[in-house]
Amino acid sequence: MQIHTTAYLDKREVSDALVIAYYKGQLVRPDLGHLETICQAPIHAGDFTGGLGELACVWGAEVEEKRIFLLGLGPEESCSPEKLRIAYGAVAKACFKYKCKSLNILLPELEYAPKAVVEGLLSAGYIFDLYKSEKEEPLEDITLIGKDALKAADRALRVMTSVNRARDLINGNADTVTPQFLAQYAKELSQEFPRITTEIKDKAWIQHENMGLLLAVAQGAKYDPQCIICSYKGRPVSDEHTVLVGKGITYDTGGLKLKSIEGMLSMRSDMSGAAVCLAVIEACAALSMPVNVTCVLPTCENAIGKDAYKLGDVYKSRAGITVEITNTDAEGRLILADALSYAVDAYNPTQLIDVGTLTGSMEIALGNSYMGLFSNSDFLAEALTSSGLHTHERLWRMPLCEEYREQLKSDVADCKNAATPKAGSIICALFLEQFVQNVPWAHIDMAPVAFAKDARGYLPKNGTAVGVRLLVDYLEKQQREQHDN
Ligand code: BES
Ligand code: ZN
Ligand code: ZN
Repeated sequence: MQIHTTAYLDKREVSDALVIAYYKGQLVRPDLGHLETICQAPIHAGDFTGGLGELACVWGAEVEEKRIFLLGLGPEESCSPEKLRIAYGAVAKACFKYKCKSLNILLPELEYAPKAVVEGLLSAGYIFDLYKSEKEEPLEDITLIGKDALKAADRALRVMTSVNRARDLINGNADTVTPQFLAQYAKELSQEFPRITTEIKDKAWIQHENMGLLLAVAQGAKYDPQCIICSYKGRPVSDEHTVLVGKGITYDTGGLKLKSIEGMLSMRSDMSGAAVCLAVIEACAALSMPVNVTCVLPTCENAIGKDAYKLGDVYKSRAGITVEITNTDAEGRLILADALSYAVDAYNPTQLIDVGTLTGSMEIALGNSYMGLFSNSDFLAEALTSSGLHTHERLWRMPLCEEYREQLKSDVADCKNAATPKAGSIICALFLEQFVQNVPWAHIDMAPVAFAKDARGYLPKNGTAVGVRLLVDYLEKQQREQHDN
């Protein structure tokens, strides 16, 4: 994908379509010159009113492009980055229909337009056809027509490139995207970006670290567990250090408490947290962001078989806390617990954020438009929530309700890994909290949004990689705060 910019409409080169946006109720554009008449036709006919995401296609001999898309942005007073993402997402879908490979886009005159337009187009333009015999034709060239658009558009292109790579990881077969595959992917990131260093920790290292919970979950699987550590040092002079921990279950069968077909069908996406973290660090490097970030990604498969870990057995965590397994399907918190305790001891981070598809109850609580946020720091929670609103990858803060901790008590061990289904997401967060000591910590349960049953707005069906834009925005804001100080 290439993005070009030009300041003037008459300086553009011919492409497969020209996109012209209109606000609802304001169907005039003074600057169209000889295109004016042809663009007015669907408006006069009443076929196009400028509603959000509405699209009309016009053809004419006087148009240099094969066609013009009239695009509705909805009412001007309620226009926002999110509305632009939705509207230009609709353009990307029209490009599939009309087989457009190149676009000229007359940008709305809004400071946030270049970024939001690129996000909407590249998100909805995502194609996953690896396993299809017939391939889709992707959009190849976009020219944005407007002033000072290049820098923001280029940054958005870089972030969306990593978002779409994360989607590929999530959508790929679980028998391809194994712990070893993720490790190789992380190694390649360090070759592509010199400021990223990757260390792959193998099973022997995991044993040496006494990560008994990660080993327990992994013991039934054909593939050995890995602990992937990726560091990006964008601000070596600073002690500030964000550690991201991502759940990397490459396939979740539920273990001996086997999932149903319905429950298991999407479980190749159970490494979405790890994929999001990899995409965030890739974006940080691609944008040369002045921040220090390390990803700690425990990854393995939660398999069923003769070697699978057992209900009722007790395993010892890296932190020394022993855990009675009351549900083998509550495996995410187990591998995160060992990774969190390692992250705290090895890096003493200024902030620790874990992200993963932890609980189905999160969807019961919030539906599919929010991720759950748990935090021991109001400051961190507020900053993340604000980035959520800004990127529309929204978070809703949930309580770390102390009274419920009792439910994790065990007769035979220091704690259980799961309790009653009530407040399941909170119980999970309380379990994790035991492993973060006093470090400012946030836990993002992205189970509701990671894998979509249907395409929604500019988000594709299946792997969404929601969370990447959120965390990149959050880290970008931090960098600005540091410069202000
Ligand atoms: N990976 C699942 C959570 C999940 C469910 C993600 C649906 C995406 C969509 C997780 O490992 C799991 O199975 N959690 C259990 C926890 C329970 C046993 C306490 C669940 O949600 O049922
Ligand atoms: Zn599970
Ligand atoms: Zn899981």
